[in-house]
Amino acid sequence: MRTDALLSQYGYCTRREAALWLKAGRITRADGTPIRRPAEHVQPEETLVDGKPVEFPRGLYIALHKPVGYTCSHREEGPLVYDLLPPRWLRRSKGINTVGRLDKETSGLLLITDDGQFLHALTAPGKKVDKTYHFTTAAPIPADAPQIFAAGGLMLNGEDTPCLPARLEAESACAGRITLHEGRYHQVRRMLAAVGAPVLTLHRLSVGPLCLDALQLAPGEWAPIDPALFA
Ligand code: URA
Repeated sequence: MRTDALLSQYGYCTRREAALWLKAGRITRADGTPIRRPAEHVQPEETLVDGKPVEFPRGLYIALHKPVGYTCSHREEGPLVYDLLPPRWLRRSKGINTVGRLDKETSGLLLITDDGQFLHALTAPGKKVDKTYHFTTAAPIPADAPQIFAAGGLMLNGEDTPCLPARLEAESACAGRITLHEGRYHQVRRMLAAVGAPVLTLHRLSVGPLCLDALQLAPGEWAPIDPALFA
């Protein structure tokens, strides 16, 4: 692709600004040879910008430790999860999105990508990627809640199909873990409310094989991930 197209597609600068970046010698081939002309053809994997490889040349895949108080949206008011990422990523021509959503008041593992197929593969109905959450509740978890959830069949208000079986493990009277194989709107909060144990705090521990603990990210931090983990 043309060098000016590369710089704008990967969010570095506009095509107009590219001419200045090239003139200043900021763009080089892997061997250090400067690229000078906007129309010169380059491969993203073999190009350096300010001495660093082009970021995510084959697609952006990251894990974010979402803090409480951030919204998974491009449009809403207030702190957005995208505010936690380098602004350059938001200028990539493909656009980045969260893989599913976490509520504003939920923390934990959130995947973000610019790969529409990857996003679809993880979120389309019928694609059953396990998601595990830690929760605390404002009332004791009823003794029969694990059986009710495991049986499937729990009907939530406003839904026309019952929830799939889910695994609930109580850790104490008002805390535990729940694993879902689907993703409905506010699902954990609604399921626990339906058995009389409204959620106080909710934190996503894992998505499929990926565990937040293993990534060692503080709230607000992110790390690249290998999409092949989910293949
Ligand atoms: N279930 C919820 O209730 N909220 C989330 O953010 C995720 C799952």
